[in-house]
Amino acid sequence: MNIDLIVRDATLPDGRSGQDIAVAGGRIVGLEPRISATAREEIDAGGNLVAPPFVDCHFHMDATLSLGRPRLNESGTLLEGIALWGELKPLLTAEAVIERALAYCDLAVAQGLLAVRSHVDVCDDRLLAVDALLDVKRQVAPYFDLQLVAFPQDGYLRSPTAAANLERALDRGVEVVGGIPHFERTMPEGAESVRRLCEIAAARGLRVDMHCDETDDPLSRHVETLAAETVRLGLQGRVAGSHLTSMHSMDNYYVSKLLALMAEARLQVVANPLINIVLQGRHDTYPKRRGLTRVPELRAAGLQVAFGQDCCMDPWYSLGSADMLDVAHMGLHVAQMTGRAAMRACFEAVTTQAAAVMGLSDYGLRVGAHGDLVVLQARDPIEAIRLRAVRLHVVRRGRVIARTAPRATALALPGRPVQVDPAAYAPAAG
Ligand code: FE2
Repeated sequence: MNIDLIVRDATLPDGRSGQDIAVAGGRIVGLEPRISATAREEIDAGGNLVAPPFVDCHFHMDATLSLGRPRLNESGTLLEGIALWGELKPLLTAEAVIERALAYCDLAVAQGLLAVRSHVDVCDDRLLAVDALLDVKRQVAPYFDLQLVAFPQDGYLRSPTAAANLERALDRGVEVVGGIPHFERTMPEGAESVRRLCEIAAARGLRVDMHCDETDDPLSRHVETLAAETVRLGLQGRVAGSHLTSMHSMDNYYVSKLLALMAEARLQVVANPLINIVLQGRHDTYPKRRGLTRVPELRAAGLQVAFGQDCCMDPWYSLGSADMLDVAHMGLHVAQMTGRAAMRACFEAVTTQAAAVMGLSDYGLRVGAHGDLVVLQARDPIEAIRLRAVRLHVVRRGRVIARTAPRATALALPGRPVQVDPAAYAPAAG
């Protein structure tokens, strides 16, 4: 067999060390210690962590890298962000959306991020961003998985043309049904939007991913409706609730009942730590609520929980760098997931769990899966998060598509020249 690539001496996210990974025909064909075959190209991982690529299952690619257009968000608030997006939307051109999205995909590849689920606003009768991102999806397909969600940003019922536009977007090839029930005029209308959108997904055989209860309102109940509709329509395991920040503020007794319903629906949960920590709790004085949904409790209930980036240099969020380790780092801190297993779970939230939310097939490091991987300048997932480790090699289908030099700093201290390797400081045990 002609082997295209062998990565040698890899440490896997599950802790197995000294592993060789062979890729042929775009697929992993060997994963074991010391593969004797030779390959067209070999990478010595030198005991570093080799992981499947990062996955961002909640993003807005139609807005990314638009920071400063038409002006900056001076207050840094959600309200000014929404106003800004409203100003920018009529000014968008297909060329500009495509150019920014392609630039973002380049940035993502450099960070080992090879799959993104992006919501795309359908509350623009031109569907300009929909067509632009469908074009981008085709262009990047050889090296990047872009999945699109039809997202009625201004409300499925509240915006007069959103319902028709959403169906038009799905007809054109957008593959996931989105929604924003907490933005509808009333709680009953929010529930009605959830019902109708889930019915559309069931009729078309599509997945659902709704912005759901992205508020601090302890009485927001749309996740309950989303779970109930999932069960009613037999959509278990195909529906994601994004944000769910109101769960942070809900009554504990109610949540104990809700978790069981969500587990019955096999609802997938997507928290967006960078955005939730800056946008929630804004009406609070002190103490200020964190607003992140109940990640440890959701995991303990057996639910899949992923972390998304949501925004990168757009009207809502001026920061971001397509670095899913940055997202995991923030999630770990805000959810206080500092236990050893909990920290590893934060790494899974931006890799395997996010891939499950997107329904990616043949993802992961195992024989038969796609030959996609990232070699990191770190020994294990915890160190990778701590250092936001350098992605030394990014591999897609057995081909290296990005390389970054290891991070090292030369100190010039008097009489003591020394190189500082950030990964040189390891725990004494474990
Ligand atoms: Fe979002």
